Amino acid sequence: MTLLKAATAIREMAYAPYSNFKVGAAIRAASGKVYSGCNVENVAFPEGTCAEAGAIAAMVASGDTEIVEVLVIADSPMPVSPCGGCRQKLAEFSAGKVRVTMATTGGKTQQTTVGDLLPGAFVPGHMEDS
Ligand code: THU
Repeated sequence: MTLLKAATAIREMAYAPYSNFKVGAAIRAASGKVYSGCNVENVAFPEGTCAEAGAIAAMVASGDTEIVEVLVIADSPMPVSPCGGCRQKLAEFSAGKVRVTMATTGGKTQQTTVGDLLPGAFVPGHMEDS
């Protein structure tokens, strides 16, 4: 299944009664499997979760931990950009060169990489003894 198809389909399932902004995300893992997620909001706003977080949770729960490609889609005027927290979440499981396609339901796309989305990322090396 293509990432675009998977993300487009799961976006419809988003629970976004507060923002009315439905987002779908799809991830291809190194195994070749595709995982997808949608945003799930909450009346206590900070408790809501992003589409990317849902896709990552599905991936990890199925035993995959290496992301090779990402796509995010929303009904927005310009391709939707992963939030700061999701950039860190994606970086946990991705090499810097991993391609991220940001898309709109209207057909616009823009490509970047996980590394370009999060320059200067906090990495495990920062926690080593000096
Ligand atoms: N959102 C995502 O799910 N992913 C993104 O990349 C950007 C923002 C969600 C969070 C919230 O439910 C809604 O979009 C509005 O911020």
